[in-house]
Amino acid sequence: MRGLNSILELSVEELDQLIATAKDIIAHPENYWDKCAHKKLATLFFEPSTRTRLSFEAAMLELGGSVLGFSEASSSSASKGESVTDTAKIVSCYADIIAMRHPKEGAPYVAAQAASIPVINAGDGGHNHPTQTLADLLTISRELGRLHDLTIGLCGDLKYGRTVHSLIEAMSRYPGVKFVLISPKELKIPGFVRYNVLEPHHIPYKEVASLEDAIGELDVLYMTRIQRERFDDPWEYERLKDTYVLNTEKMKLAKDAMCVLHPLPRVNEISVKVDADPRAAYFRQALNGKYMRMALILKLLEEAKADPKPVALDSSELEYDRICRNPKCISQVEQELPQLFRCTDKEADIHRCVYCDQRG
Ligand code: CP
Repeated sequence: MRGLNSILELSVEELDQLIATAKDIIAHPENYWDKCAHKKLATLFFEPSTRTRLSFEAAMLELGGSVLGFSEASSSSASKGESVTDTAKIVSCYADIIAMRHPKEGAPYVAAQAASIPVINAGDGGHNHPTQTLADLLTISRELGRLHDLTIGLCGDLKYGRTVHSLIEAMSRYPGVKFVLISPKELKIPGFVRYNVLEPHHIPYKEVASLEDAIGELDVLYMTRIQRERFDDPWEYERLKDTYVLNTEKMKLAKDAMCVLHPLPRVNEISVKVDADPRAAYFRQALNGKYMRMALILKLLEEAKADPKPVALDSSELEYDRICRNPKCISQVEQELPQLFRCTDKEADIHRCVYCDQRG
């Protein structure tokens, strides 16, 4: 039995199969109406959400299942000090599958170790958001007809934008994909994406500061919000928040076949006037998220039925003698959670926290 913590846990074949299932759901929804009858999805959202939580819940309802859960930490016993581990054990008594969002990086991973049902990471801090990536992949596939041989521009907050990290991890595995990383220098992609994914796999990428200069070469433009809630210094956010605004003038510089994606919510990084452009795919992308979450729930529940044993943590290469210094890591707050590291690059002597991927 497994859940989904990182998009890297799914092979390219599995990603393609999920996309195929989602397309079949779109074509024949009636075939799926009772696939999850008598099954329950628990949505444990310790952080705000519109799309992810509601699309998970809509997905389970459209599969004939039921939903339970909470939409803010203050209405759960986390507000009384209950740990993620205990929460996951308790919810395993009431539901068949969990979707969890948490502000601490690695929290869904910790929940998965404790739960006896599959746990899906619905966004952990500024780290990962694998099910948004599933929505992104289906959208690119439907809009452009392929996931290979694409130049993908990612623009905005590449440091804290968890959707960016997961999308790069996924798309790096398709042939002929190049990335143009468009950000201010303060918001460049973090080391775990650069040194675990892009560099070791020799993925072509360049880093630029100007959206206008880059937009003409892109097949996909993935806009992102500057993530106010992740900034330690509010003035830094104020300084950077309007760095990029996609407007109709900039869209004139783009290819006719380019598509614009955004995980949403948007603040003001895409002018509302762009919404009328047929290349603006972000509302279709939000709908695609529901279909991909349906496909994922089906897959994980089928796998759990076939193999209900919890997946044991691979302890063979774990290191216990380092301390994670990321204040946003779950290991900073979860009771008695061991510090766990893995060597990710023997030559460069790089060790990363198992929960949040920060270098130790
Ligand atoms: N894309 C996304 O995660 O949106 P929500 O925060 O509304 O779930």
